[in-house]
Amino acid sequence: MFHKILIRSAAVLGALVVILAIAATILWRRDMAPSGASMAEYTTPDEPYYTTQIIDSAIQLSLKSRAAQIAQPADYKDDPGAKPTTYLRDVHSKSHGCVLAKFNVGAVQDRFAQGVFAQPHSFDAILRFSSGKPGVNSDSGRDARGLAIKLLDVSGPKLLSGETNDTAQDFILMNNPTFFIRTLPEYQAFSQALGGAGIMSYFMPSLWHPSAWHVRELYLAAQTEKPRPASLATIRYWSASAYALGPNQFVKYSVKPCPLNKPLPPANKRDPDYLRLELANQAAKGGDCFDFMVQPQVMGKNMPLEDTTVNWSERDSPFSSVARIEIPAQQNNTAAMNERCENLEFNPWHSLAAHRPVGAMNRVREALYQAMADFRRSKNGVAYQ
Ligand code: HEM
Repeated sequence: MFHKILIRSAAVLGALVVILAIAATILWRRDMAPSGASMAEYTTPDEPYYTTQIIDSAIQLSLKSRAAQIAQPADYKDDPGAKPTTYLRDVHSKSHGCVLAKFNVGAVQDRFAQGVFAQPHSFDAILRFSSGKPGVNSDSGRDARGLAIKLLDVSGPKLLSGETNDTAQDFILMNNPTFFIRTLPEYQAFSQALGGAGIMSYFMPSLWHPSAWHVRELYLAAQTEKPRPASLATIRYWSASAYALGPNQFVKYSVKPCPLNKPLPPANKRDPDYLRLELANQAAKGGDCFDFMVQPQVMGKNMPLEDTTVNWSERDSPFSSVARIEIPAQQNNTAAMNERCENLEFNPWHSLAAHRPVGAMNRVREALYQAMADFRRSKNGVAYQ
C-alpha cells in the first residue's frame, strides 16, 4: 500500500515537473524572435510611436529619481550628480567617475581598417564609468556597469541629427554581452513598470496568469545584474548591439582589460562609493589598459542585427583587437572633472557613417539619449560637453 502511494506521488511530481518545463519552454520561446527571423536590418512602422512613448517614460523616471533623492539624499561624495536637486540620467544615473585616456589605433586587419580604425592614430578620449539602475544606489548592490567612451577631435560629419558637426565618436558598452529586451513595445512596457509599480510588474504582471510572464527576459535581466566587481578596470564590457564597420559589414564591440590591471580597493571595502574610490586609485596609479575589439557578423550563423538579446557566439566569430585604450596617471576624482563627467552627452549616433548604429534598440537610442541630454541640460542649466 505504502509502496503504491509512493509510486503515485512520484508520478504526479514527475508529471508536474514535465508540465512546468513545457510551460517554461513555451513562455521562453514566446520572448524569442520567430524561427527563421531575418539576420538583416529592418524597421517597423511603429518605431516613431514607441520612441516618443519611451522618451516620455524616461523623463518621468528621471523626475521620480530626483524626488526620491530630495526626500532621502544619498551619502555620496564629491560628484555633482549627487546633489539631490540635480536631474540625473534616468538610467546609468550613478557615475563612478570619468578618466582621460588615449585610444591608440595600431595596424589592423585590412577588413577592419574603416572609420577611426582606418589608419594608426592616437585619439584623446574620455571614459565615463556608471552603474545601470535609476537613481543613486550603494555600489554593494547587484547592477550592470556601463562604460561610455568618447573619442575627441574626430574629424568628419557625424550621424546624430542636429549635431552633425560634433567632433566626438562615442562607443557605449556595459558588462554584459546581451540586452535583455528584444522589441520596442516590450521596452516601453518595461520602462513604464520601472517608473511605476516596479520591474517585476513587467516580468510577472500576475502570479495567476503565467501566460503574461516574460520568463526569458527575466532570466536575461538577472544575468545583467552582476555583483559589485572588485574593480571597474578588471571587468569586460560589450556593446550588445550591432554597428556597421564600413559599407559591407556589421560588428559588435567588446572592451577587455589588460591582464596586468589589478584591483586597488579603497581602505573601507564597504564604502557605498567603493567603485568611485577604487577607480580614483587606479587613475592615480595610472598604467591600466584595455583592448577595444570588434566581432564581425558571419552570414549563416545566429547573429541577428535587430535582436540584442542574442549573444553572437565567439566560436562562430572571434573578437579581434583594433585599438588599445591606455589610462595615464591622473587625479580624476576632482570637482572639475566630476562636473564635466556629469554633463557629458553620450549617444551611439555621435558617430561617423562608417560606424553607423544598427538595429531597433540603437535606432530608439538616437532620439532618446538626445532628449534626455537636452532635458538634463535645460533643467540643470549646464552646457553640453
Ligand atoms: C543595447 C545595449 C545598450 C548598452 C550597452 C547601453 C549602455 C548605456 C550606458 C553605458 C549608458 C550611460 C552613458 C553615459 O555614461 O552617459 C546608457 C545610458 C542610457 N541608456 Fe543605454 N544601453 C543600451 C541600450 C539601451 C536601450 C535599448 C535603451 C532604451 C530603449 C537605453 C536607455 C538609456 C538611457 C535613457 C540612458 C541615459 C541617457 C542620458 O541621459 O544621457 N539603453 N546606456
